[in-house]
Amino acid sequence: MREVGIGIAGFGTVGGGVLSILENHAREIEARLGARIVVRRVAVRDVAKERAVALHPGLVTPRLSDLLDDREVEVVVELIGGTTEAFDLVAGALRRGKHVVTANKALIAARGDELFRLAAEKGVDVYYEGAVCGGIPIIRTLREALASDRIQALHGIVNGTTNFILTAMSENGEPLAQALAEAQRLGYAEADPTLDVSGGDAAQKLCILAQLAFGARLRPEDVLTEGIMQLEPADFAWGRGFGYALKLLAVACRVERAEGEVPGPDLIEARVHPAFIPQASLLAGVRGAMNAVQLRSDALGPSMLFGQGAGALPTGSAVVADIIDLSRNIVASSPGRVPLPPSTPRVQLRSHDEIRCGYYLRFSVKDVPGVLARIANTLADRRISIAAVEQRDQADGGGAVPLVIVTHRAREADMRGAIAAIDRFDTTVAPSRLIRIEEL
Ligand code: NDP
Ligand code: HSE
Repeated sequence: MREVGIGIAGFGTVGGGVLSILENHAREIEARLGARIVVRRVAVRDVAKERAVALHPGLVTPRLSDLLDDREVEVVVELIGGTTEAFDLVAGALRRGKHVVTANKALIAARGDELFRLAAEKGVDVYYEGAVCGGIPIIRTLREALASDRIQALHGIVNGTTNFILTAMSENGEPLAQALAEAQRLGYAEADPTLDVSGGDAAQKLCILAQLAFGARLRPEDVLTEGIMQLEPADFAWGRGFGYALKLLAVACRVERAEGEVPGPDLIEARVHPAFIPQASLLAGVRGAMNAVQLRSDALGPSMLFGQGAGALPTGSAVVADIIDLSRNIVASSPGRVPLPPSTPRVQLRSHDEIRCGYYLRFSVKDVPGVLARIANTLADRRISIAAVEQRDQADGGGAVPLVIVTHRAREADMRGAIAAIDRFDTTVAPSRLIRIEEL
């Protein structure tokens, strides 16, 4: 039977999942592939560390270069994370004509173009299904299943750690720090969990998805990104009252140019932020570390992919599926079967100022005559239309009362201007809270 030799860099959460799936599902994989996948080398930082799967000691090496130098390694699987050593490893593999599988969204989002160019030059493939939404086959869906379609909108819960935290805060009233510690214990969080809670990890994933869905070329810093650290229990409660659930959402969608926007190519919005979504929506039911991506496309209409977005076995299953796909290409001598993403952008990113959506605003104000009128006038001056208002008269220790306003769709720059003005009023006692609303 034909053998395909692979070298795996990284034997942590995901590497452990990959090795255990390769071992436990070897028979099924062989039957489906008609070839045998053989692990030739596994690179780790600390060779003495105890591992979840037992390996022949001769396979394990502390040198990444051993994967590159081994002529029997046809596919390099990069699972070490980061963008420096991982880039050198992946670029080194491509230069030697080896195919690459990676689950590293930071690497693909930051330096994917260079790597794809190199892969095209060398006639080899780079697969990265595990980089977005763990085990959910969203990359394959966009690259292959929906290759015939035109995507209009993508709304995703693409970070398991933050969805786990928001679910615990919303359902059990757990403090954020406690829920984050649990997510770290379960292996969902990034080595630096700031990337998760800041929305940075989701922004990296959105860049990868927007390239495949719309032909966008975005860097994470281009995406309007807000994390979950500012969310307070009160916001969950108020949102529930208005019929909303609170999620960290990644959104990319085609939009029409508004009056005054400079004409040009097709326009998209790309943003990651906490969002109120209808409680009855499918995305609102995505709990814990689960991920989901809802698509709207011209031919298929609405569709949704749902599943585990992080963790050893879910992510491992996506990585192994990539290894199998690549092995099929190798066995059939057909590299480049699925083209790499386009490097020239086909759409333009709308400036953050021009983004339009509904807003939930929570003000902390003195309970004196005229406060509501002043705030309403400030919003009206900027063409922001109010959809609902609620005020509760129980004051906190400082004599402030919460006033919550939900608006119709408004322009981001107008909203920011209004909030800045309202925060300067002598009747405003704490910075106002803003959460965007997606009606989906
Ligand atoms: P871990 O920190 O659990 O594992 C990293 C592994 O890489 C460790 O085995 C480490 O060795 C090894 N390593 C790091 N640097 C080197 C080096 N220079 N040379 C050799 N080995 C090295 O990370 P994860 O498994 O969680 O993540 C790996 C990648 O997968 C990241 O890109 C991450 O973003 C991505 N990912 C993670 C998911 C998850 O749920 N955890 C989900 C989807 C993607 P040692 O064990 O000796 O320290
Ligand atoms: N830290 C990431 C998450 C891992 O929580 O979703 C999967 O990419």
